[in-house]
Amino acid sequence: MEVTGSFIKKHRGRFLEELIEWLKIPSVSADPDKKNEVVRAANWVKDSMQKAGLDQVRMIETAGFPMVYGEKIVAQGAPTVLVYGHYDVQPADPLDLWDAPPFDPVIKDEKIYARGAADDKGQVFMHVKALEAMISSDELPCNVKFLIEGEEEVGSENLDAFVRLNKDLLANDVVLISDTHMISNDSPSITAGLKGLSYLEVEVTGPNRDLHSGTYGGAVANPINVLCDMISSLTDEKKQIVIPGFYDDVLTFSTQERSEINRAPFDLELFRKSLDIKQESGEDGYTTTERTGIRPTLDVNGIWGGYQGKGAKTVLPSKASAKISMRLVPNQSSDKITQLFMDYFLKLAPESVTVKVTPHHGGEPALTDLNSAGYQAASSAMEKTFGIKPIPVKQGGSIPIVALFKQELDSEAVLMGFGLNSDAIHSPNEHYGLFNFYRGIETIPYFFKFFTEKNRK
Ligand code: BES
Ligand code: MN
Ligand code: MN
Repeated sequence: MEVTGSFIKKHRGRFLEELIEWLKIPSVSADPDKKNEVVRAANWVKDSMQKAGLDQVRMIETAGFPMVYGEKIVAQGAPTVLVYGHYDVQPADPLDLWDAPPFDPVIKDEKIYARGAADDKGQVFMHVKALEAMISSDELPCNVKFLIEGEEEVGSENLDAFVRLNKDLLANDVVLISDTHMISNDSPSITAGLKGLSYLEVEVTGPNRDLHSGTYGGAVANPINVLCDMISSLTDEKKQIVIPGFYDDVLTFSTQERSEINRAPFDLELFRKSLDIKQESGEDGYTTTERTGIRPTLDVNGIWGGYQGKGAKTVLPSKASAKISMRLVPNQSSDKITQLFMDYFLKLAPESVTVKVTPHHGGEPALTDLNSAGYQAASSAMEKTFGIKPIPVKQGGSIPIVALFKQELDSEAVLMGFGLNSDAIHSPNEHYGLFNFYRGIETIPYFFKFFTEKNRK
């Protein structure tokens, strides 16, 4: 990989300039007004894949945003790596909390600031550039396929059908994904577990119209009060979820496994300081690392109802709503948990209101086999460029396609992400370290090399 290495050194300035161009396109998949921009970002990465030397590069239309596909087949007998990532980004709101406009990238303190910088454009682009370097240097050791989608941030609704219908096109020996973070730049890690997700919207309706809160208050159920009561009835004082059956399938870990999980470097003081909180909070009997990594959770993501304008308006509202997510761990099933939630939540409703529950997208949790060739190749590659053997960690985020690839293609996915949890993904001032961007580009070719060596027959 020496020629590849010098190619990367020589072109690093250009790589960054190109990434900046891509980050300028506001590809917010959740925003109907940004449809053209999302498609423009797809075209942009398609062109960049073409320039990198991939063949068969094309947009594949779906019922939603297109997939971008490309491949380089070097030899029929060689292993095939499928690189997956996403070109869509989260909405940038609240805009006023950004120090610079989210789609006008700036470089400050060796970091690039923009929506999508770390999640996931910056990380996808490392793969495009690593591939360009390997192809230009004639050092690509195996086959590669790229699948870059545009609906990851809205639940990958069209990916399911796409994967099921295109099994031959996507056939591979390992899936490589950079869409997660490491412990720190001095403690490289590989994500070996991701959570699943069950996401619902609930609506509580009381009287048929907004009422005067003096004339009717105390005599008619207030949907906001009721909704708050119902939400607080979902968990107990130990912060355990009380939905019947919720924990039935949860994979439990032995004392030894738990102490291993807790060996990952974690500075609680720094954690508190970075978030300006005096005290962390979560399920009794578990550490923060366990709470985020191996225990299921329930959170309200949004809640609204009643008067939100300036000043005071005395009103007893007709309706109140909330968006609620549950992060799931192996072996919980998203559909099953969604059903358990619906049954329980509807039972919690007092006679004085009507409740509607609407499920949104979900996804299954994932675990990586640490003995797989893919994990081992990623570990060796990171050890090569960081000089330290990375440790496996379990993270609280979700990438539903990982479980789908396993189920439909029987593929193991390797989550070799180069971000940091301080990158502020989904938050104002999202950024990606230039160190991380370049280290990723340098590491990826070694993954290809080591994976090919392990698969040589
Ligand atoms: N890249 C994240 C997932 C992630 C973040 C994994 C941090 C591990 C650590 C991804 O883009 C994402 O935001 N996923 C959503 C999934 C959802 C929309 C189905 C998530 O986790 O909320
Ligand atoms: Mn992502
Ligand atoms: Mn995301």
